[in-house]
This record gives sequence, structure tokens and C-alpha cells, in this order.
Amino acid sequence: MMNWDDPLTPVTQTVTAPPSAAGVESVADDAVPTASIQQPQQADLRPVNPDDKRVINGMTDINQLAPFKYPWAWEYFLNANRNHWTPLDISMAQDVHDYHHKLTLEERHVYENVLSYLTTSDILAMRNIGLAVMEKMSAPELQIYQARQVYEESLHTWTYQHCIETIGLNQGEIYNRYRVVPEINGKIQIANRRLNSVLRADIDLRDRDELHNFLLAYIFFAGVFEGCWFYNGFSPIFALQRRGLMKGTAEQLQYIMRDEVLHASFGIRVAKQIMLEEDIRPDPRSLDEMWAECEAAEEAYAGYILRDPILGYSKEDHVDQYRFIANRRARNLGLAEPYPGAEPTLSWLDEQANLRKEKNFFETRVTEYQAGGLKWE
Ligand SMILES: [Fe+2]
Ligand SMILES: [Fe+2]
Repeated sequence: MMNWDDPLTPVTQTVTAPPSAAGVESVADDAVPTASIQQPQQADLRPVNPDDKRVINGMTDINQLAPFKYPWAWEYFLNANRNHWTPLDISMAQDVHDYHHKLTLEERHVYENVLSYLTTSDILAMRNIGLAVMEKMSAPELQIYQARQVYEESLHTWTYQHCIETIGLNQGEIYNRYRVVPEINGKIQIANRRLNSVLRADIDLRDRDELHNFLLAYIFFAGVFEGCWFYNGFSPIFALQRRGLMKGTAEQLQYIMRDEVLHASFGIRVAKQIMLEEDIRPDPRSLDEMWAECEAAEEAYAGYILRDPILGYSKEDHVDQYRFIANRRARNLGLAEPYPGAEPTLSWLDEQANLRKEKNFFETRVTEYQAGGLKWE
């Protein structure tokens, strides 16, 4: 039986006395100060017309889920719920041995700094969706998928922490690297600046300048931060996995990547819907600045984590693949390609990142993994 007063501590004694009615009344009295109760407004009793819903700036009842205006958003939610996992499902035993006995110094440098970047990034991703984006949505089917996304971002943070803890890395050092290494800090600062610009409570999205800034932030987070930096960010670990190293971590990242592909795809769809409904396009100069800034930050980051290339993976591979993926995201958004002519350098990435059902992981699961192969576009 759960101890309701201290739910994390196992109960050794059976609790026999239910909470007293007097106690409940007392809590209720404290929680609802009568002086502040507001009189209800005159109710609008007309039914909601789903055609009136809008992604932002809508006036329909936010508490009514269906009929849907955006049935695709509900499909994303159903799909996300097929990717159930926790970091405890995947064995890390071999990774502990690999890290301490097989990885070179250069490979350890890559492994540690990729984790350093990812831990901070996923907290930013969680705060962006949960604190800045969700409250501005005016259709509940969008918010419900985003609520799942908030949970997934925290699950990802747990995963990195699980890897860091299991391998036995110095947490104070790993978690502070984004603050003390300028090449990691550069990417984090860009995301922080975008997030802080839309985190204010007084934003009026009927103001065209505010709307434009919100749209740009949305495009950045979905198209670059999740669509490129996460997608591409896992690949150095997948390169180790291809050589039989750090396979537990890589499998964890495969599950995260599966979530992130959905996040980026959903975000891009929302951004396109905002452009359509609000009749707005991102200013080309602002976009050019965004792509230039993001490319420079990615180059600096790759130069730091891969200052000495590791077997099968180099700084050039990383940056060229970023440019190739960025073009894909821009096309998805209906925007011009920022890096025309970029070629993929990691031809194995999509295949490597896909989960395969024959993995031992599935033998431990009660239900078979329901989703099919990932569609990377
Ligand atoms: Fe994430
Ligand atoms: Fe995400």
C-alpha cells in the first residue's frame, strides 16, 4: 500500500485510520479564500465550430478536444504513445567496460561532450515547449501532443543522466561544460536567446512584430534545434556504435531520436499552419541571419568535439551532414534551401538510427513495438 504522506518510502505498517473529515475540511478552507472567489461571467452556451479553431489567436473553447480541426495533431499524439521506453530498459554494462577499457582519449572526449551538450539542450527543449509554446496554442489537440513532448524531453534528460551516472562520469564537470566551453556555449546561447524572446507573459501575437518573432523562434526550435542539432547530434555516438562501441548509449539515443523526429516534424507542421492562418512569412534576411549563425555555431561545436577526428567520423562529416539535413528541414517548411548543393556525408545515418525488432531489447518487452520504420523526411 502506498503511503500517501511519503509515497517514495516503502510502507511497513498498514495504515488503518483514514484521514479525518475535519482535516479535509480544514485543507479546503485554507485552499479557497472566500474573499477572492470571482463571480462567473455570463456563459457562452453555443457549441464550438471546429472550423473556428486556430493554432494561435483562436477564440474557441480551449477545453473542448473534438471535433478536431487538426486531426493530424491527434495522430502525432497516438504515434508518440507507441514509443514507450525508459533508460532502465537498456543494458549499459558493456558501455561501462567500453568507456574505461576500449575508448581512446579522443573518443572519450567526443562521448563526454556530446552528452554535455545534449543534457542542457533537452532542458531547453522542455522549457521551450512547456513554458513558451503551449500557453500560446489555442487548440487543445496541439497542446495535448505538446504535453507528451514535454514529458519526452524530461525522459531524454533522465536518459543522459542515466548514462552519465552509469559510466561514472564526474557530474559537476559534465553538466558545467556548456558554461565553460565556448564552442558548446555558443549553441546553447542561441537557443536561450530565442527562448527568452518568446517566454514573456505579455506577448500579444496579434502584433505583427511579436508574431514574426514567435514564428522565427518556432522555426528555429523545430527546424534547427530539434530537426538538425538533435538529429545530427547523436551521430558521433552512432559512429562508435557502428564499430561495436557504446552500444547501450547508442540504443538509448535511437529511442530519443525517434521522439525527436516526431517533435521536429510536428513543429514544422505547426509553423506552416501559423504561416497559413496568420498570413505571414519569415523575413528572408532574418532567415539568412539565422542559418548563418547556426552554421557558424555548429562548425565551432564540431571543431571542439572532433578537434582530433575519431575512426569513421570527422568534423567535416558532421558539418556537411548538418547542412544537408538543414536543407531538408527548410524544404519541409516551404523555405529556400540555406546551403544549396550540400551532400550527405553520413550515408549510414538513417539506417543506423532505425530501431530493429530483432534486438534483444524486444525480447524483454511484453508488447511488440508497434510503430514501423521511421520516415525521415
Ligand atoms: Fe529531447
Ligand atoms: Fe524534442
